[in-house]
Amino acid sequence: MKKWMDLLREETVAAFVEAGYDAKYGMVNVSNRPDLCQFQCNGALAAAKEYHKAPLAIAEEIVPILSKSPYFEKVEAVRPGFLNLTCKNEMLAAYVNEMAAAAQFGAEKAENPRTIIIDYGGPNVAKPLHVGHLRSAVIGEAVKRICRFAGHNVIGDVHLGDWGLQMGLIITELKKRQPDLPYFDADFTGEYPAEAPFTIGELEEIYPYANAFSKTHPEYLEEAHQATYELQNGNRGYLALWQHIINVSVSDLKRNYENLNVTFDLWKKESDAQPYIPDLVQYLKDEGYAHISEGALVVDVKEETDTKEIPPCMILKSDGATLYNTTDLATIVEREKLFDPDTYIYVVDKRQGLYFEQIFRCAKKCKLVPAETEMIFLGFGTMNGKDGKPFKTRDGGVMRLENLIAEIKGAVYDKIMENRQMTEEEADEIARKVGVAALKYGDLSNQASKDYIFDIERFTSFDGNTGPYILYTIVRIKSILKKYEEMGGSYDAKVSSEVNESELPLLLKLVGFNEMTQTAYEEKAPHKVCQYVYELANAFNSFYHETKILAEEDEAKRAGYIALLKVVLGVLETCCDLLGIEAPEKM
Ligand code: ARG
Repeated sequence: MKKWMDLLREETVAAFVEAGYDAKYGMVNVSNRPDLCQFQCNGALAAAKEYHKAPLAIAEEIVPILSKSPYFEKVEAVRPGFLNLTCKNEMLAAYVNEMAAAAQFGAEKAENPRTIIIDYGGPNVAKPLHVGHLRSAVIGEAVKRICRFAGHNVIGDVHLGDWGLQMGLIITELKKRQPDLPYFDADFTGEYPAEAPFTIGELEEIYPYANAFSKTHPEYLEEAHQATYELQNGNRGYLALWQHIINVSVSDLKRNYENLNVTFDLWKKESDAQPYIPDLVQYLKDEGYAHISEGALVVDVKEETDTKEIPPCMILKSDGATLYNTTDLATIVEREKLFDPDTYIYVVDKRQGLYFEQIFRCAKKCKLVPAETEMIFLGFGTMNGKDGKPFKTRDGGVMRLENLIAEIKGAVYDKIMENRQMTEEEADEIARKVGVAALKYGDLSNQASKDYIFDIERFTSFDGNTGPYILYTIVRIKSILKKYEEMGGSYDAKVSSEVNESELPLLLKLVGFNEMTQTAYEEKAPHKVCQYVYELANAFNSFYHETKILAEEDEAKRAGYIALLKVVLGVLETCCDLLGIEAPEKM
């Protein structure tokens, strides 16, 4: 469906042209003074300069022309030259009825779908998933859904960190603890056991221990480096151990992500890019992109217009070792080969911004990707505690995601049990859904790049701009519809063109839906969905408080309200789906 705003714009453009002005002045926006009008055109102010006329005079010329349009109830010229526009209710209602019948409530799919790779999640194997990875998973999942809704081919890749020193540390520590395992026997030629020699619990304990130990024991650290090197160069026993570590870790990660309603299309790993490295390095050398600087192989990526220093992108260290950079560039080579993406989106902590700037420049300069490929770094800020410092647990440690979910779920559970009668199982299931929504919405409602404060009290509140408030609104509508069905009501009516005052803000919000999803896609901005869904929920709740719905005696009127509720429900649910949150049946 054409966007509502575009329909209005067509009218204003035609009016400006008819009055002898350039089409570009027929711009329209949502009014920032909703008490005065619904929409506004500031074109006369802009045209005044070019045409050397008073803005108000121009606006006054437009009024009689625009008043003929079927869309507007009222067109007014006001000082210093604004055009205040009020739409005809019947046009709004007709548009909403059209939305009700259209796919995706009238949000069209892209005509030319792009192939988009989203690199998000980015957990590191064997290291516990912590809140630092929460944001990437939550934001990336929403961005994936928003892009898909807009009609693009989206591939979400978790891009596991599985190739660094953490592997060497774990191997070294395991060797110390269980030296007799066959993985450490160089003469072992048989089949390694199918069962991993550790559980996820042990694995999670080993890494922090080994990491801390290596900080004070240089010889241990050296051993871990050596083990990493041997792993990366094909030590058979270490590779078998590494495979165990991945298997145990991945099933744990999948469970964690599932709890968050986050799913990946690809479970690729840093190690998957390793086979591409030798050719990549050769290519960079042969084409003269890379040169040796202080022993290391680097690609210069600074540009004349830079205002800050952009250091060269390092490809190989002076000892020939590869780096995070090398892996990311090789991953790009692999993604080009497998998927030929039009767009890359990396959802990573914004502190890696400079790093990705180097990677993007290097990829473009060295023609690893076509010049027109879009490379987007979606950097997110830090989740802080109430003290404004990065979020920690009460004992000062980094909070594990699992505990965080459990904590927020507990808070919701208490709230539900406080004032409602339901079984424990029911409350448990509801608390899970609502808790996840509280957590995700609390994150997504902020612009991703900003830091935000994790406030369990606020996030789980049933009032205000929170996940539970949105879900509560959905549940409320569902229960009205259920009662309506029990009364024998049917759904064949349409939203009435006789719009009352409390319905109007709801219609005005609904007609902006497809514009909002488009903007959220263009800006890769889940917070735009949150803002919209919150405003829509507010508009609905005001309507609900001011209107007798089921108690309305006029049957046609009641059926019209129900038709409206249906659209509101559908749009609210669609928005929740874009955010990756689910509503329970009751709460
Ligand atoms: N594993 C990395 C980390 O924990 C994030 C990976 C981000 N993605 C990438 N392609 N580098 O910091």
